Amino acid sequence: MAAKALLLLVVAVGVGAGVEAAGAVEFAYDGFGGADLALDGMATVTPAGLLLLTNDTNMSKAHAFRPDPVTFRRPAGAGGAATMSSFSTTFVFAIVSEFLDLSTSGFAFLVAPSTDLSTAMPQQYLGLFNGTDNGDARNRVFAVEFDTVRNPEFADINNNHVGVDVNSLNSSAAEPAGYYDDGTGTFRNLSLISREPMQVWVDYDAATTEVTVAMAPVRSPRPKRPLLSTRIDLSKVIADTAYVGFSSASSIVLVKHYVLGWSFSLGGAAPALDYAKLPKLPRIGPKPRSKALTIALPIATTAAVLAAVAIGFLLLRRRLRYAELREDWELEFGPHRFAYKDLYDATGGFKDKRLLGAGGFGRVYKGVLPGSGTAVAVKRVSHESRQGMKEFVAEVVSIGRLRHRNLVQLLGYCRRKGELLLVYDYIPNGSLDKYLHCRDDKPVLDWAQRLHIIKGVAAGLLYMHEDWEKVVIHRDIKASNVLVDGEMNGRLGDFGLARLYDHGADPQTTHVVGTMGYLAPELVRTGKATTLSDVFAFGAFLLEVACGRRPIEEDDVDGNAAVDEDHFVLVDWVLGHWRNGSITSVVDAKLGSDYDAVEADLVLRLGLACLHPSPAARPSMRQVTQYLDGSAPLPELPATYVTFSTLAGTETYQPLFFDSWSVRRSTAAMSVATMSDIGLSGGR
Ligand SMILES: *[C@@H]1O[C@H](CO)[C@@H](O)[C@H](O)[C@H]1NC(C)=O
Ligand SMILES: *[C@@H]1O[C@H](CO)[C@@H](O)[C@H](O)[C@H]1NC(C)=O
Ligand SMILES: *[C@@H]1O[C@H](CO)[C@@H](O)[C@H](O)[C@H]1NC(C)=O
Ligand SMILES: *[C@@H]1O[C@H](CO)[C@@H](O)[C@H](O)[C@H]1NC(C)=O
Ligand SMILES: *[C@@H]1O[C@H](CO)[C@@H](O)[C@H](O)[C@H]1NC(C)=O
Ligand SMILES: *[C@@H]1O[C@H](CO)[C@@H](O)[C@H](O)[C@H]1NC(C)=O
Ligand SMILES: *[C@@H]1O[C@H](CO)[C@@H](O)[C@H](O)[C@H]1NC(C)=O
Repeated sequence: MAAKALLLLVVAVGVGAGVEAAGAVEFAYDGFGGADLALDGMATVTPAGLLLLTNDTNMSKAHAFRPDPVTFRRPAGAGGAATMSSFSTTFVFAIVSEFLDLSTSGFAFLVAPSTDLSTAMPQQYLGLFNGTDNGDARNRVFAVEFDTVRNPEFADINNNHVGVDVNSLNSSAAEPAGYYDDGTGTFRNLSLISREPMQVWVDYDAATTEVTVAMAPVRSPRPKRPLLSTRIDLSKVIADTAYVGFSSASSIVLVKHYVLGWSFSLGGAAPALDYAKLPKLPRIGPKPRSKALTIALPIATTAAVLAAVAIGFLLLRRRLRYAELREDWELEFGPHRFAYKDLYDATGGFKDKRLLGAGGFGRVYKGVLPGSGTAVAVKRVSHESRQGMKEFVAEVVSIGRLRHRNLVQLLGYCRRKGELLLVYDYIPNGSLDKYLHCRDDKPVLDWAQRLHIIKGVAAGLLYMHEDWEKVVIHRDIKASNVLVDGEMNGRLGDFGLARLYDHGADPQTTHVVGTMGYLAPELVRTGKATTLSDVFAFGAFLLEVACGRRPIEEDDVDGNAAVDEDHFVLVDWVLGHWRNGSITSVVDAKLGSDYDAVEADLVLRLGLACLHPSPAARPSMRQVTQYLDGSAPLPELPATYVTFSTLAGTETYQPLFFDSWSVRRSTAAMSVATMSDIGLSGGR
């Protein structure tokens, strides 16, 4: 019996070749040129051999199947039950959307009882189901979806996920798209709409009912740890004979889903794809015009007109692509104004590959300025309102003249419709919060490095507050706004940006911009940032660096006094230990006992002093630096010292704050905090 099965398992050779014998199916397509596939809807095979599922058509769908059904289960033999076969498949795909940052419908690999999916719907249904049969066990469809839209109606986890679907678009299991690095074990995101080809491996083990899905950038080896692994008894789902293929749908954003190569095996491992033979994706950019010209060639005049139109089109496109906003008042800021085209070229067209980070007020890209070769970080801040823009740009330019080794140099700006771009010096080692809060991939900062960074940031802030020609308020001091340079100096970045959002677009709820846990109480109450509200945030930063914990953590399970409902309030925790005389026990556990207790005690008590609820009781940055360098002794905190979060719970403070500030946890890119967010502890 075993010998017979072996004999029947014949390995396919060549493009699209396949063998289907009793129980054994195996095929491999290194490109789909000449392949016999059952296509419907928009699906086509391009002349280059790419399987193009969705073309640029709005609201439609596409299916592509291997034309012969696969026998997943042999009928029950004498005395034995029918057994489901294991299977394995791998494919390379790419999603090319009109826009790089906008989600569109995704696609799926599927096993279905029929190639007729005419009743399925496009858009969020991915061409798999419709509004009435989603979740119906009679569908007998198993699919692995690559979804680029977050549909709450299917309880999707995000707009960039991989899900295992059984008869339903509500995935049985789903994970954000990405893979685990074999070396470090860290998770790396993959953006499905990045236009980059990626390889997927889907395996089903009939013995254990385990479904595993792995993915990686094309040509990378299969990651050892799968992205997703779940147990589903597919013998109850997949029909005895069923079709394997792909389903995809489009909606209002134009998008192309390509499959570059695909292999499948019943019983064994899917044959490896030959990357060298995979067809190339078309170049993305202006469409080549040559075909139109060839057709029009006999009529010279038409050709000329067409060419002119094409050139006009390209010029217009170019103009739109590089369009900027410029107004007369900007003339005086000329030297600080960058051309959008230069920033576009510097960052390779704001490619995702160049993305250094997203958060705060926008996305930051790494770039190299053409000409000078200077490495820069370009921040794209989306900003609709033109109100206050002139003042802001004036401030940006004046901030650009701030020069200090603990500040990130702002080189200039550029404005486009709805968007402001800020150009900074590129700082190689990234932001401090990654060192403090990342578990594996960054080394732990030792105490000396932490103190050095703290002193640096204090020096930078002192310069902004007192030593420069004007008083500059930072407004958003926190570990993620402190960058670490090649010599491990802390450098403050992102100054003044919060100002741009000070008076929010929504006049009903004047919100204060800054970050939860770093906002001084009077700032929240009056909306007015001062040097002393910066000192408050600096106090939160001191505790964060010394303790390696964020000022406010949600879902903490420590069960100690500082935890109110599901929030951990760092300052209350540190204060509790200060009262008990055990303040240094809050020092980051990652340091072990490897820190200077006198210095740690100073930093922690200084943090508490800066976090004083009354601005008048906080030290100035000048005093802070004196305490830090030991040229003045830090006064003892009064025994009556309470933190703001404790105060917020008392009768006198509560009505003042809670009536005028509504709870709003922002989902927008910027961090918006309100009084209720801050008065977390004891705020009942
Ligand atoms: C897309 O596919 C549909 C259906 O095959 C076809 O009618 C349409 O012309 C195609 N559109 C493009 C832009 O190729
Ligand atoms: C949904 O699909 C089912 C088949 O699965 C079909 O019977 C039903 O008519 C379809 N419903 C709609 C609204 O198209
Ligand atoms: C899918 O999830 C949504 C949202 O949780 C839920 O309302 C719906 O009933 C689910 N549908 C199925 C078929 O499970
Ligand atoms: C991966 O994506 C998630 C969700 O978009 C995000 O929270 C996370 O920071 C990203 N991680 C990296 C390393 O980019
Ligand atoms: C796509 O179709 C929808 C509904 O049919 C329509 O509202 C939308 O304007 C169309 N979009 C484009 C870009 O054609
Ligand atoms: C910081 O950057 C420098 C220079 O780029 C590099 O040599 C060093 O290893 C980095 N340090 C850390 C801790 O990442
Ligand atoms: C401080 O001591 C008191 C009494 O011994 C104890 O209940 C409390 O948990 C301690 N606080 C901290 C933060 O350890």
